[in-house]
Amino acid sequence: MRSSLSVDKTPSRSGLDIAKIREDFPNLGKSMRGKPFVYLDNGATSLKPRQVIESEIRYYEEYCANIHRGVYEFSEIATEEYDSVRSKVARFIGAPEDGHVIFTRGTTESVNVVMHGWGRKNVGEGDVILISEIEHHANYVTWQQLAQEKGARLEFIPARPDGSFDLSGLDALFEMPVKIVAVTAMSNVTGYKPDIKTIIDTAHRHDVPVLVDAAQYASHHTVNVAELDCDFLCFSGHKMCGPTGIGVLYGHERMLADMDPYMYGGDMVVRVKRDTSTFKPLPERFEAGTPNIAGVIGLGAAVEYLQGIGMDAIAEHEAHLIEYTLSRAAEFPDLVSYGPADHSTRGGIFSFNLGDVHSHDVGSILDQEGVAVRTGFHCAQPIMRLFGVPGTVRASMYLYNDTDDIDMLFEGLDKVRGIFNR
Ligand code: ALA
Repeated sequence: MRSSLSVDKTPSRSGLDIAKIREDFPNLGKSMRGKPFVYLDNGATSLKPRQVIESEIRYYEEYCANIHRGVYEFSEIATEEYDSVRSKVARFIGAPEDGHVIFTRGTTESVNVVMHGWGRKNVGEGDVILISEIEHHANYVTWQQLAQEKGARLEFIPARPDGSFDLSGLDALFEMPVKIVAVTAMSNVTGYKPDIKTIIDTAHRHDVPVLVDAAQYASHHTVNVAELDCDFLCFSGHKMCGPTGIGVLYGHERMLADMDPYMYGGDMVVRVKRDTSTFKPLPERFEAGTPNIAGVIGLGAAVEYLQGIGMDAIAEHEAHLIEYTLSRAAEFPDLVSYGPADHSTRGGIFSFNLGDVHSHDVGSILDQEGVAVRTGFHCAQPIMRLFGVPGTVRASMYLYNDTDDIDMLFEGLDKVRGIFNR
């Protein structure tokens, strides 16, 4: 039963009709372990609305064909649908040209496309790659491997014990031979949102490009790459109501022009001679082979869905949820939560441990209560080292969550305490 406790449950300021939104998500009507399903693992992947699921089914049932190849009607329809999504995504993130949007498999591949295509050409021995300890492994290990290959080194934007950045000495970091900054727009562990604009402006004053890992950010907030003036922005479709296996790399034209393709093959070449080939312009140069056509079409439906609701309203709703969550957490003296205490610097992610109970045990008991969370180190071991813990329990929220879901989480935590006699 969806419960209602005696804690302040101020209605969301966003004005979103959450009950109506929930009807769009078939999974939300299900039971898990015989209990009403409470989904708080949106940092891992979001649920999908009918509109997205149906768009993929339509492609497979009504006009399934390859793109950019066929001279017949269904191939033309598939090509038009696919290409139109590039425009939708470009508008969604404020990109000046559709061709600056490259489709990838997800954020991890987007970062790798930049590492291989730009990094291997431009980073050399003794150079510095500036990242942070709060990065997801996708934006950490990738650069670590490049540093090893090139004899370059990783340096770090200083992080405080709560995982927020101390940017007071940022300018001085560029006295080192920094070649690129690669930084998250929102931590997948704490939801902390660094001041990306200051980082970008500072880096640019030193002629250093910035890659933004927006895997957690882009699904919850308005993004405008032109205003942000970032050089690269990476995000995944599956965290923003879209399908798995589809992601986006936005690149500024000056950066994409200076990049080698990550993969070679069909659909990215103009002419193949015996010993040499010439490549298509942007974006096809970076999309060799048959792409994830259904995934792109589903991503387009997800973008339309989110825009129909409004990204600012979604961010506002989640700001309310994290504020509510942190206020409820204060009722648990044995709960240690991670991340800045100032909820205004955070998105809807709540990482915690309950006394000395292992995070997996907490997650397993919550599972029995129908509550889905992620446990462990969340593909982010460096921030776990910063916090001095092997793992945490993470509840991550999205547009369809409400304060009842948060109450169910805390009811589950009461059960954990009961089982562990706390
Ligand atoms: N990157 C995803 C997460 O944080 C999978 O859970």
